[in-house]
Amino acid sequence: MYLLAFESSCDDTSVALLRDEELISMHTYTQLEHIKTYGVVPEIAARLHADHIFDLIGKVLTDGWITLNDVHVFAATSEPGLLPSLLIGKTVAKTLAISHKTPLIWVNHIEGHIFSVLLERKITDIQFPSVVLSASGGHNDLFLWEWLYEIEKIGSTLDDSAGESMDKVGRSMWLPFPAGRHIDELAQKYSLELHKNVPHFPLVLPAESLDFSFSGLKSAALREIETRKKDHGEITEVDMIELSYGYQKTITDILVARTLEAQKKFDTKSICIVGWVSANSALRKSIEAFSQESWIPYYLPKSMKYCGDNAAMIGIRAYWETRKAS
Ligand code: KG4
Ligand code: ZN
Repeated sequence: MYLLAFESSCDDTSVALLRDEELISMHTYTQLEHIKTYGVVPEIAARLHADHIFDLIGKVLTDGWITLNDVHVFAATSEPGLLPSLLIGKTVAKTLAISHKTPLIWVNHIEGHIFSVLLERKITDIQFPSVVLSASGGHNDLFLWEWLYEIEKIGSTLDDSAGESMDKVGRSMWLPFPAGRHIDELAQKYSLELHKNVPHFPLVLPAESLDFSFSGLKSAALREIETRKKDHGEITEVDMIELSYGYQKTITDILVARTLEAQKKFDTKSICIVGWVSANSALRKSIEAFSQESWIPYYLPKSMKYCGDNAAMIGIRAYWETRKAS
């Protein structure tokens, strides 16, 4: 069964061709045009999706040596996301499905992120129930994943997402958008001998829930940046490394603390970490250390290309929908 999947919920135009569970080809156009506006402008994003989506379809079909007539199922992200962006992928998918008299499956974007751990894995590789942390620029949620189709949201952010808060703090240090990756790179330059003034931020964990809150932390970091700008005339590289290290450490401590709390509360057999923030090196180290100690397995998307917004995750979620029906 050939499945052609589309993802266009934000600023990545992505098309993927799957043969059952196997990814045959994926092409993604990441809209770097939003760097100069330091954030995604929905109308510009939609125009760029429309400009690129047909070329991407051509590329994946060429890679798979098939034509649109050979596609058995179309799939597209339905929600959540930027409405003008979503409309491009949805309209293309629906038009193709109607004109080829072929089924169309709508996929929730966040469920796509959760299912991204199933790319290049068998379902039996995952120990259920699992607790899933899904964090990116647009969302920051915890889920109890009982089994394939049984997903319950158990926590969410009350304000900013981890990625969004990194982007805002990064902007204040003149880092390019999106700043998460740059903060990660700066933090990796930290050395105990050279960096004596790492700021310590409070670990904010909203009480009696599994929710997150990053806005207080963000304000504290922004105040620290302004103080250093005043003290040093401008923010120095040492400041940037110290701030990135301290800030990233607090963010990852919060993410990991809440995820482990949820794992204990629901006594899950494993942990999944998905979304762009799962690319973060400190988060990966921290969860690896926990897993080594506790023997509780964890799963990240098999490849970095499945961490960000991508059509392969939409395709694999749709594939499992076809299995539900059979
Ligand atoms: O591209 P984007 O808007 O996509 C989604 O929301 O799905 O956002 C990706 C987010 C950004 O906030 C970016 O700063 C963050 O993920 N990010 C990271 C890393 N790479 C990307 N955050 C922490 N560490 C990283 N290595
Ligand atoms: Zn996403």
